[in-house]
Amino acid sequence: MKNKFEKKVCCIGAGYVGGPTMSVIASNCPEIRIDVVDINNKRIEAWNSNDFSKLPVFEPGLEEIVKQCRGKNLFFSNKVEEGIANADIIFISVNTPTKTRGIGAGFASDLKWIESSARQIAKYARNHTVVVEKSTLPVKTAETIKTILKSSIKNDGVDKDKTFSIVSNPEFLAEGTAIDDLQNPDRVLIGGEDDFSINLLSDIYKRWVEPKKIITTNLWSSELSKLVANAFLAQRISSINSISALCETTGANISEVVRAIGTDTRIGDKFLKPGPGFGGSCFKKDILNLVYLSRYYGLEKVADYWEQVVGINDWQQKRISTLVIRKLFGTLTNKTLAIFGFSFKANTNDTRESPSINISKNLLQEGAKLNFYDPKVGKKKILFELGGMISEDNVLVSNEALKAAEGADAIIVLTEWEEFNCLDWQNIYQVMRKPAWVFDSRVFLDIEALKNIGFEVWSLGT
Ligand code: NAD
Ligand code: UGA
Repeated sequence: MKNKFEKKVCCIGAGYVGGPTMSVIASNCPEIRIDVVDINNKRIEAWNSNDFSKLPVFEPGLEEIVKQCRGKNLFFSNKVEEGIANADIIFISVNTPTKTRGIGAGFASDLKWIESSARQIAKYARNHTVVVEKSTLPVKTAETIKTILKSSIKNDGVDKDKTFSIVSNPEFLAEGTAIDDLQNPDRVLIGGEDDFSINLLSDIYKRWVEPKKIITTNLWSSELSKLVANAFLAQRISSINSISALCETTGANISEVVRAIGTDTRIGDKFLKPGPGFGGSCFKKDILNLVYLSRYYGLEKVADYWEQVVGINDWQQKRISTLVIRKLFGTLTNKTLAIFGFSFKANTNDTRESPSINISKNLLQEGAKLNFYDPKVGKKKILFELGGMISEDNVLVSNEALKAAEGADAIIVLTEWEEFNCLDWQNIYQVMRKPAWVFDSRVFLDIEALKNIGFEVWSLGT
């Protein structure tokens, strides 16, 4: 069975990156066997579920690919040891969150999952293995991985065929568009030290990516470029969000400003959507990591500069919370607010670092009752994210927008789910307490239509 495949790939980590990335490689390379392994049994069970709507990651197009490849050349299991031992190429796609304690807490990335993956590879790999850093890592992490891998090679002859090379191949997919991003990437970045490994990986991508889009660099440029790409993207969001506040006080309109500046081809129109601040598992952690690295190398000014991007993001969320409270007569006691959208952006069920979390917590702090509706995020996840802020009667989760709005004083739209534009707002208005407010933090609703129905409307940056 094993021999029918030309190459064997193992991916450690079956999360938001490992799952979709390996699915797309599998669908483009039927001659490669891919084993995606994870220590989280529940996740693996979900990847193997017969009900494809239960896959642990929701991404448009993912279900179809998993249906097509699973059990043929794509396998999900908890057999980490076996996956590693059989592989020619091992992708490390484990989580690298911000450290919560110890040196660098609050800034540096916690590399304990990277270290444990490297130790597992060191122990179980056989022959020559190419180890690929797919996770986002601080620059110079490859040095650590190399040291761990080298130290595993015994000099007694047992491991005489065991060798490793290491390649950095950061992932640039965005959630919600992961499959399209993987299928049609702007570029694929491969950083390495030896041509054999770089070519091995390039040849895989060349199955569906134009060769001119495959950029090769040294290891350190590749590791650093991933952090820098995320920092630049997040910087644009903080820049436009800072201007949204200025628009509100001057009579300028943020959508008009975006159009006016975005048509300058040097600036470009992407990543200029104002909103409640960036969420997701990566922007904040990657910038904080860049800040930590800059301080570590004595570059205080560089660190301060990038730290401000996160500072503005936190400020925007606080600002929106305060604004809602002020508009609702300065108090939220005995008021019910409907929160529309809990995922950190549309088309994903991911809630990590979602702006909805901080804004909801601020509103709960002020005594509001919150009624949540999100098309893809269920009660369990919402309650988990709000943690200690929940009491018996201050949080409800509805499975319909209309239900969430019943008796509410205001609707706070925090995720730009397209279905919010198709709701029967007339009906929603009827079931709310008056004056009925809509706060559009994503600047995407039809404000005039809402006003005509009778809503009081606040739209960010206007
Ligand atoms: P995730 O938490 O969804 O998945 C990581 C998985 O790794 C988990 O299921 C965990 O159980 C597993 N794992 C951890 N240690 C393991 C071990 N020793 N053996 C086997 N499995 C192990 O994380 P993610 O969102 O997929 O992100 C992974 C990496 O990719 C991070 O470094 C992140 O910064 C980067 N990244 C994420 C995205 C994104 O959109 N989420 C995009 C680009 C890059
Ligand atoms: C981001 C990057 O876009 C990916 O290239 C990168 O691979 C990934 O981080 C990562 O390293 O994890 P992602 O976080 O999935 O992807 O989603 P984005 O589309 O970048 O959105 C991030 C946050 O910024 C969301 O909360 C989104 O609503 C917000 N955003 C985005 C804005 O507020 N305005 C915009 O114009 C764009």
